[in-house]
Amino acid sequence: MSKGRTAIIVGAQWGDEGKGKIVDVLSEKFSIVARYAGGHNAGHTVIINGKRFVLQLVPCGVLREGCRSVIGNGVVLDPIAFLKEVSALRDAGVKVDGNLFVSNRAHVILPYHRMIELASENAPGRVKIGTTSRGIGPSYEDKAGRRGLRVTDLLDLNLLKKHIENACREKNMIAHALFNSEPLDADRMYSEYADASHKLAPFVCDTAVLLNRAIADGHSVMFEGAQGTMLDIDHGTYPFVTSSSATSGGAVIGTGVGPTAIDSVIGVSKAYCTRVGEGPFPTELFDSMGDQIRKKGNEFGAVTGRPRRCGWLDLPLLRYSGMINGTSWLVVTKLDVLDELAEIPVCVGFKVNGRETGEIPAEASCWNKIECIYKTMPGWRTPTQGITAMSKLPKAAREYLSFIEQESGGARIGMVSTGPGRDETMFTDEFSELMNSDVDAMSPAQERS
Ligand code: GDP
Ligand code: IMO
Ligand code: MG
Repeated sequence: MSKGRTAIIVGAQWGDEGKGKIVDVLSEKFSIVARYAGGHNAGHTVIINGKRFVLQLVPCGVLREGCRSVIGNGVVLDPIAFLKEVSALRDAGVKVDGNLFVSNRAHVILPYHRMIELASENAPGRVKIGTTSRGIGPSYEDKAGRRGLRVTDLLDLNLLKKHIENACREKNMIAHALFNSEPLDADRMYSEYADASHKLAPFVCDTAVLLNRAIADGHSVMFEGAQGTMLDIDHGTYPFVTSSSATSGGAVIGTGVGPTAIDSVIGVSKAYCTRVGEGPFPTELFDSMGDQIRKKGNEFGAVTGRPRRCGWLDLPLLRYSGMINGTSWLVVTKLDVLDELAEIPVCVGFKVNGRETGEIPAEASCWNKIECIYKTMPGWRTPTQGITAMSKLPKAAREYLSFIEQESGGARIGMVSTGPGRDETMFTDEFSELMNSDVDAMSPAQERS
């Protein structure tokens, strides 16, 4: 039997590219969807027949009947947030029992992670990241520090009790000394998490075994990324990043499926750019155009409600993202948001200290010196929402997309989205054929060679 086909969905920018919608649309073609990084800092919006779901920890595949969902070992899991999400899904009539699986090796977020994050974000002298305050960073810190609690440990109540007692003693001392925080009560925490442990247990298994077996048995798997390339702990705009490997490599580490099993990497990018939280953003708009895009694109955080910073599409960053992720296909979302514009500037290069550079700076000091080189593309000034074939798009919109494809470093555009709904999506013939086929070689680079 030939192995099941696999594809990684990765955010090509700073998150919120519309990954949730794209995973939902493509889940029709996959047996399993597996989340590989981040936690409930993510907010993936899916709209089905006008009904809005915002998924934070649970993969968007859960909304597709017959599709199994996996939360991989690379995710940091807040059991209380997970159970709340599961309960909301059950209330909405979504089947979660028996088709949602949580890795026994995923790390757990506990209340002291949130306490430390909140205090340190507000502490004088610390770089403020503008985090989602979910305890993500401190939980990954404990994982790397080899003092974290994994899901499997949460299920062992003796171990859980000891872990909470020790961790609370230590974290309370640190938080008091550094930030003068109020101490957390270990007994109360234990009873809350022991209760959550019972409720979580039926979902827990070795998801690496589940996924590898499924692929070997010919089942297709889609890996759902959270956040985006420029928020990746290694490759993003450090220190203004999240604490996990949000890039495609994270799918391998965060699920336990080897790199040789991956067929294609699908990068999702908006037709423009947004970012939430602090940090560099070379094409950011500070004028009424930024407000116009924010309003038309409804650019407010799905989790925190914060207004998203808006700017023009940044091709140097898209090329960088293509290189880091090994992107084979590009999906462009929110094209409709640009429908009314007469002209659309696109950043095609960077100058630092007056000199053009093809590299993305690592130094924080360089980011502030970036001068964007823009090319202005003509707008189409026609509604694109509701168009379902590439050939039916206005000529200027097709030219805008072709320019992105040409300048994005080798990936081909496979899909374009012009609205939040499932139907507001179009495919190129080649991509559509691949999604409908059972062949495992899904990369256009492989096809061309
Ligand atoms: P994610 O985190 O990458 O899944 O993205 P979010 O869900 O946080 O943000 C994307 C937002 O854009 C959501 O509100 C989606 O419903 C919406 N959206 C997705 N694709 C499109 C599109 O093509 N056009 C418009 N207008 N909205 C879209
Ligand atoms: P999805 O999956 C956009 C940002 C936060 C902050 C930084 C660090 O919906 O695309 P963290 O809480 O992770 O320590 O915050 O990362 N951030 C996101 N921005 N989309 C996301 O997820 C994000 N997850 C984290 O705003 O700047
Ligand atoms: Mg989001």
